Amino acid sequence: MEAKIYSPYDLTVEKAEGIRIHTDKGIFLDTFAGIGVMNLGHSYPEVVEAIVSKVRKYAHLSNYFLDPEVPVMAQTLLNFSGGQGCVYFSNSGTEATEAALKAIKKCRKKGKIVSFKGNFHGRTTGALSITHSEKIRLPFEPLLPDTVFLPLDENALRKFASENTISGLFLECIQGNSGVLPIPHDLAQTVMELHKEKGFILVTDEIQAGLGRTGNYFSYQGYGLEPDIITIGKSIGGGLPLGATIFLNFAPFDMGDHGSTFAPNPIAVSAGMVFLSKITSVFLEEVRRKGKYLSEGLSKLKWVTEVRERGLMIGAGTENPDMVKKRAFEEKVLLNVTSGGIRFLPPLNITFQEIDDILSRIDF
Ligand SMILES: Cc1ncc(COP(=O)(O)O)c(C=O)c1O
Repeated sequence: MEAKIYSPYDLTVEKAEGIRIHTDKGIFLDTFAGIGVMNLGHSYPEVVEAIVSKVRKYAHLSNYFLDPEVPVMAQTLLNFSGGQGCVYFSNSGTEATEAALKAIKKCRKKGKIVSFKGNFHGRTTGALSITHSEKIRLPFEPLLPDTVFLPLDENALRKFASENTISGLFLECIQGNSGVLPIPHDLAQTVMELHKEKGFILVTDEIQAGLGRTGNYFSYQGYGLEPDIITIGKSIGGGLPLGATIFLNFAPFDMGDHGSTFAPNPIAVSAGMVFLSKITSVFLEEVRRKGKYLSEGLSKLKWVTEVRERGLMIGAGTENPDMVKKRAFEEKVLLNVTSGGIRFLPPLNITFQEIDDILSRIDF
């Protein structure tokens, strides 16, 4: 028997295409793209084609061989950041966080690792040490030492930085698991100011908010931040497991310092490259337009108390999220409940017509 750690829908999936999930109980609309993974929708034909064509050649090579698409993907990610550096590939978001933590541990021997209240960085023991939610963290304490959670408040950060040495600071600019909560702009400014003054390693977690989701290549670009490390997961593998940690202007790992048997999986790289090749400035503009359209539509619904929108990453506040989820299910719409209400993470290529379809079904 599998570990009972999730509560899946009572649905048997037959196939999934675009935003549609075909099941034994009918066709449902997926408003959260497999939790922010299927950013071109389910079974996007070019992605399927890339997967099939790569698997016909090989499924896994090990790190004794370099798949030719890997350096292309690394360069594409660096281009999105506008900087130079190197990319360490892994299999998931939490592994991307672990690589960032190891880099901080190696490059800064002393100091506290700062994260913020509401942040989520993963569930492996290092990443969990800087993930705020007590419900998921406390049962596993003690975890990494010298970690601290600060409120999303520039004065608290200033005070902490004046009394302590900071080795690394993790920011999730748009807190996804907390219900799509953008951090205050003055906090981001203070982070940059202190980063220049104190020289700690600044990590932006783009695992959920990155790769076009917010209408920028990365969400930190909407805040004018200049990170040293960017962590990526979820959609980067086009639906297959892949993570990446971008190190800008430094290379913390020497030969043999860190590694993975599987990563980067060559099929995931092929699938992910199809997605990355779609992210152009025109595509990002469309994401912003669709985000506005969806959030304006949501704000007119009776059950919505507040809408927080950054591109196609949208949180809708509501008094009774479980009831809303149940009602939507009756209309064959799948909604994702997070601590801040309902989280919308639709595919980035969703059409205006599909948005209308979702909105009209959840207008109750
Ligand atoms: C912001 C953020 N960081 C890290 C993670 C961890 O990623 P994974 O579940 O792939 O380990 C997630 C997953 O939801 C996330 O949203």
